[in-house]
Amino acid sequence: MNILHVCANPKPVEQSVSKQLAARFFGKLLELNPDVELNNIDLYQDKPPYYSNDLYRRMWMPVFDPVYEPSKAEDAALNYARKQIDELKKADVLVLTMPMWNFAAPALMKAWMDQILAPGLMFELTDEGPKPLHNITSIILLVASGGVYKEDDERDALTSQVRAAFGFIGISDIRIAWADGQNPLFFSDAEIRRDMAFDAAEELAEELAEESVEG
Ligand SMILES: Cc1cc2nc3c(=O)[nH]c(=O)nc-3n(C[C@H](O)[C@H](O)[C@H](O)COP(=O)(O)O)c2cc1C
Repeated sequence: MNILHVCANPKPVEQSVSKQLAARFFGKLLELNPDVELNNIDLYQDKPPYYSNDLYRRMWMPVFDPVYEPSKAEDAALNYARKQIDELKKADVLVLTMPMWNFAAPALMKAWMDQILAPGLMFELTDEGPKPLHNITSIILLVASGGVYKEDDERDALTSQVRAAFGFIGISDIRIAWADGQNPLFFSDAEIRRDMAFDAAEELAEELAEESVEG
């Protein structure tokens, strides 16, 4: 099993609940299956550029215009996406680690998604709809938030965006360990909630370790 871990959080692990969730998840997974191949991308170390018109043209013009020839600038605009997608193509499982900021994913995670959700590279458009050009079957989402969100809470733009964007490219198996209620001013049980999420992250690791051994 080959896992790509993409993390968007500027905090050191000792200050970040979502990074601690990732530490628990990978600690358990590698203990149970040391053969899992793990590749880490820290978006604060390797920042995605904002989506540009050159990138738009290089990604989408081939879809609309079969004789389109990219300019040098348009071709160069695809460099970050190409590098990231090379890593994504090796993966069976994608792990996304992030905090909730303003009810959504951090801007760097969104910018990364804008880069990698690329026609011709991660999916192709067919008469039957988008067809995956990758081998990722599951996403593990490790998230921390100050507030508590019920399922399908309309304020939560984070999980709904991850589901919609990756569902579009054929990944519907999204498993979540969510440390919610991490603002101790509002939630006196913040620590209990954090520990429950740590347990959930380890359970997800156990599940995945079993699947990695099965094949
Ligand atoms: C800029 C910023 C925006 C935030 N926005 C939200 C929010 O919209 N909803 C929420 O529940 N928590 C929000 N929080 C709280 C964080 O999600 C919470 O502190 C969480 O534990 C952060 O994860 P981390 O510990 O891995 O950094 C915000 C925190 C920051 C710094």
